[in-house]
Amino acid sequence: MALQVTSVLWKAHVEDRAVAADDFQVATNSIDPQAMGPSDILVELLYLSVDPYMRGMMRDSKGYYRQPFTPGEPLSSRGLARVLRAGPDVGSGFEEGDVLSGMLPWSSHAVLNRRAQAALQLVDSRLLGKLPLPTFLGALGAPGMTAWAGLKRIAEPIKQGEVAFVSGAAGAVGLVAGQLLKHKYGCKVIGSAGSNEKVRGMQRCWH
Ligand SMILES: NC(=O)c1ccc[n+]([C@@H]2O[C@H](COP(=O)([O-])OP(=O)(O)OC[C@H]3O[C@@H](n4cnc5c(N)ncnc54)[C@H](OP(=O)(O)O)[C@@H]3O)[C@@H](O)[C@H]2O)c1
Repeated sequence: MALQVTSVLWKAHVEDRAVAADDFQVATNSIDPQAMGPSDILVELLYLSVDPYMRGMMRDSKGYYRQPFTPGEPLSSRGLARVLRAGPDVGSGFEEGDVLSGMLPWSSHAVLNRRAQAALQLVDSRLLGKLPLPTFLGALGAPGMTAWAGLKRIAEPIKQGEVAFVSGAAGAVGLVAGQLLKHKYGCKVIGSAGSNEKVRGMQRCWH
């Protein structure tokens, strides 16, 4: 039976002005799971993360480290999806019921070929149900890894009791960096953020 799919499409490149709701279009179509290739997987979208790198993909920029979005096609970003069906020749090892993390189209359901599967990782099933799913896009996802790698690979050695300053401290990366600096490294942490509300959120998170 055909499956109804809802997608958010990117209309046209936006170079310098602010991106507005009119730049997106919600569209519906259908996919037929019976028509899947033997190495395809069918996934159901669970969560999407809206990240700063996406703004660069909205420009028609050849020099950007990611390909621009294709007008008329769904946007894509990091997200979580559940495998509903896996073809018999799926080489990635993904199976029905697995939760996957990585680059996903902004569609309620999608059939993903081998190339798209290569941009996905299996979420450790031992952690499922123990942590809220969005954690795998936040502290245990790319923002957490970015904060961890910045401290571990660049900022270390960090001595206990040192004073650390975090800019963009209420952002996805800054919130994790501040917690690691305070609780793992034992630093006194000072953060900056653009509004009083953000400062309050940052203080709650770093407490
Ligand atoms: N999220 C990821 O997985 C990831 C991965 C790799 C790299 N990065 C990079 O890490 C940085 C932070 O990412 P994020 O996900 O935490 O972004 P975010 O949640 O959008 O937070 C970024 C914050 O930076 C502040 N900011 C904006 N322009 C600034 C400027 N000119 N000077 C100082 N602060 C400024 C803003 O906070 P205020 O309004 O409070 O000042 C903004 O909310 C970005 O450069 C991003 O490209 C992120």
